[in-house]
Amino acid sequence: MSLLALSESLEEGRIGKSTELFIMDSKNRLIAHSNYKMMFHQEGAPSVDPAITEAMAKAGAYQTWSGRLALKDKRDVIAAFYKLDDLQLPWIAGSLQERWEAFVVMIEMRQKLVEVIMVGVLVVLLFALLFAGHISGPVRSLTRAVRQIVASDFTQPVTEPLPKPANEIGELAQAFETMSKVLSNRTQELMSVQTELQRFNMELEARVEARTRELKATQDELIKQERLAAIGQMASVVGHELRNPLSVINNSIYVIKNRLEASPAPLSGPAAGLINPSAPPTDLSNAPAPEAAKIGGVDPKIIRHVSIIEGELHVANQIISEILTFARTREIQPRSTELHEFLEEILGRLNVPEKVALQKDYVKQTIFLKIDPDEMRQALRNIISNAFDVMPSGGMLKVSTKANQGYALISIADTGPGIAPDIAAKIFTPFYTTKSKGTGLGLAVVKKVMDRHNGEVKVESAVGKGTAFHLKLPLG
Ligand SMILES: Nc1ncnc2c1ncn2[C@@H]1O[C@H](COP(=O)(O)OP(=O)(O)O)[C@@H](O)[C@H]1O
Ligand SMILES: [Mg+2]
Repeated sequence: MSLLALSESLEEGRIGKSTELFIMDSKNRLIAHSNYKMMFHQEGAPSVDPAITEAMAKAGAYQTWSGRLALKDKRDVIAAFYKLDDLQLPWIAGSLQERWEAFVVMIEMRQKLVEVIMVGVLVVLLFALLFAGHISGPVRSLTRAVRQIVASDFTQPVTEPLPKPANEIGELAQAFETMSKVLSNRTQELMSVQTELQRFNMELEARVEARTRELKATQDELIKQERLAAIGQMASVVGHELRNPLSVINNSIYVIKNRLEASPAPLSGPAAGLINPSAPPTDLSNAPAPEAAKIGGVDPKIIRHVSIIEGELHVANQIISEILTFARTREIQPRSTELHEFLEEILGRLNVPEKVALQKDYVKQTIFLKIDPDEMRQALRNIISNAFDVMPSGGMLKVSTKANQGYALISIADTGPGIAPDIAAKIFTPFYTTKSKGTGLGLAVVKKVMDRHNGEVKVESAVGKGTAFHLKLPLG
């Protein structure tokens, strides 16, 4: 085979436009070239580009070499050389291909890749758009619904119409709607519980306040009771102690009056009966109130002063009696008593002032009460005595009874001046009096007696018209 034919076969085996295949000997002389013209256009023996020889020199003893080369004619090539030692030839086969062509495949591949990616991105975008349209609508509705619920403080269920496609979003919307209803119900329940709690709290506070007030009132009452008990005890001791000197004074007055009787001019006039030597001198409580006396023969001044002493003794004794009744601590001794008989007995013994009319208005039935007659008598007398006190120029005393649901009612009314409300609030307080010689114990005794009988006393008064005391006692 000629060298020309070898060059031709190299020409045929070439791949790509810029590819050159050649064979050279160890002295860098061209043996064959795919472009056979290369064999002739050079002067002398055709040789390869110096860059190739240089590269081969660098490769040295290696059989093969490949790499990038910059040729003399400025071409940038990818070169590959192979020593044909295995064929027992001192030649080297080489190939050159311009770099741009060597990368053509890769550039094409890159182009293809770009196209594939572009198509992929487009497809994904298309899907995303379709998907978004399908999802974002319901999601936007859901967002609006959430805002609506939050704005209503969770008290209202959602009213925003939610589309319910037959997929997970639809299920989500369904679940959301149910949740919003439950949430609204629960929130409303919670709020009503909270309101209830607040109401309960206020009620509790009011109750605690009321209880505290009650406690304070009870405590005040206890303190008052204790103080009264102490005062009563002291008054009782003082009363008993005063009784003795008063008895002595009374006895002395008795003696003086006897002496006056024995004087030359005997006593005469209405006052004579007042100084009665046969009367027991120590019974002060029943001593009648003296009147001014005119006794002949004795200095009338002495007579007047004796009368004054006697009168004041009577008052002092009454005061002591009231104090002792008030301070009395013995247990009551209740006895079954018919009310009307009892009242008749008291009224019958009464010294009714001349200008005062007595009127009775009893219920037509017998009423039995369990009372301590002594104490009850004292209480009724105290009320009646006050009524007489406020009607010095006449009036009417009316005693009436009623029976009602296990209780008996006794009312004692007068036509006196009445009691102003601010005074009426104090009249049952021990030692409260508006009278110059009052003890202020009469009504305190009434209150005490009623308490001891589980009863009640109330005052009803109209200024300028009169006063009524109502006593309520359990039937016995
Ligand atoms: N029937 C009445 N009408 C007007 N005031 C009365 C009547 N009964 C009682 N009072 C008033 O109540 C006060 C207290 O009465 P009481 O306790 O009996 O004490 P005293 O008779 O010693 O004043 C009297 O001072 C009087 O002001
Ligand atoms: Mg009185």
